[in-house]
Amino acid sequence: MLSEHTIGIIKSTVPVLEVHGVAITKRFYQMLFSNHPELLNVFNHINQKQGKQPTALANVVYAAAANIDQLEKIIPVVKQIAHKHRSLGITADQYPIVGKNLLAAIKDVLGDAATDDIIQAWAEAYGVIAQVFIDVEAEMYEAAENAEGGWRGFRSFVVTRKVQESDAITSFYLVPEDGKAISGFLPGQYVTVKANIPGQSYTHMRQYSLSDKPGLPYYRISVKREDDSEVKPGGIVSQYLHHQVSEGDVLDITAPAGGFTLNLEDARPVVLISGGVGLTPMISMLNTIVEQAPERKVSFIHAARNSRAHAMKQAVEELAKTNSNVTVQWCYSQPTEEDRLQQSFDKEGYITADWLKGIVPNKDAAYYFCGPIPFMRQVHQSLHGIGVPQADIHYEFFGPKGSLD
Ligand code: HEM
Repeated sequence: MLSEHTIGIIKSTVPVLEVHGVAITKRFYQMLFSNHPELLNVFNHINQKQGKQPTALANVVYAAAANIDQLEKIIPVVKQIAHKHRSLGITADQYPIVGKNLLAAIKDVLGDAATDDIIQAWAEAYGVIAQVFIDVEAEMYEAAENAEGGWRGFRSFVVTRKVQESDAITSFYLVPEDGKAISGFLPGQYVTVKANIPGQSYTHMRQYSLSDKPGLPYYRISVKREDDSEVKPGGIVSQYLHHQVSEGDVLDITAPAGGFTLNLEDARPVVLISGGVGLTPMISMLNTIVEQAPERKVSFIHAARNSRAHAMKQAVEELAKTNSNVTVQWCYSQPTEEDRLQQSFDKEGYITADWLKGIVPNKDAAYYFCGPIPFMRQVHQSLHGIGVPQADIHYEFFGPKGSLD
């Protein structure tokens, strides 16, 4: 229990955090990795370089500080992060390490302004915030381990099939090496792959959505190869998976996690909108609805550059042919000549409010979307534009959470 005095200090430092929050977390990561280089095995180096992770952490610390006397308010945010932490295997004994380096970074950035009183108050507050995470994560670890076919930590899976789905997306079918059962999951959830890439000093962890329905004897992930470009370096793990991992190889993964999941209790029509490789959780949702709720209307809308970049097109069109509850719409930003000749898409350009208005159900519906951030902004805005209430809008970021405003 924090004292009124401590709460007062924490609350009064919120404006300071607003100004220095990102500088503090950037400094924090420099210190953390210099004091604990082994943590480079766990953190995504690209997210660090792009500053995405420091910003995500700063936003949460800021939200927690503002609500320090009513932390139950931030439980939904904590849960989302705790899924990620659980999926990465973050442990309770790592929290004090993070706390120590965070306090050192606050002191370092704020200098004399960070008085002993302030540092002491933050040490206490961090302890309280950390405990909320530790408790939520402990429950998640137990649930993952105790589920039928579940496990704790990493488990080895054999790549039994590798299937090219488009010019850049390839699916990997994963079957446990121990031959035992695998746990179910909620459509929309992901697993963490731990990649031991030859020649690399550290392991690399990445999350990939499960791209098929639960209840099958395998998990499927579908990975976009991120090639090197002038504006950003390629994806070290995606290139490794595409170029170096073959059928018969083993990948270590954690049990399914994630809070972006399809509500199967809701019988209303559902609209699944994806951009590029953001289609992976949507395919899992679609396949699950077809199997478990065949009466529920599904509108599957996918945006891709053109048919060459469009993964799983044939499989989804087959589903729509054989299931009258499923309709599909394709939106291509750069259709090829052949796409035009074959009229293999419904809209050219980007998804807009006007177009959506004409193709989505006009009564109550649930909306789920996932894709690159500019695409998500556009979809979010369009849904607001056509009057969809925020409570019916669900979305997932790939990578650290950002803002769609
Ligand atoms: C991810 C906050 C403690 C390791 C995240 C994210 C946030 C966050 C906001 C981004 C989640 C997302 O992807 O949307 C916090 C807070 C903590 C805390 C507020 C303390 C109260 C820890 C600890 C560790 C850790 C103790 C382990 C040393 C990670 C890793 C990621 C992550 C590895 C994945 C991000 C990446 O690799 O880019 N955390 N975290 N966190 N956290 Fe924490």
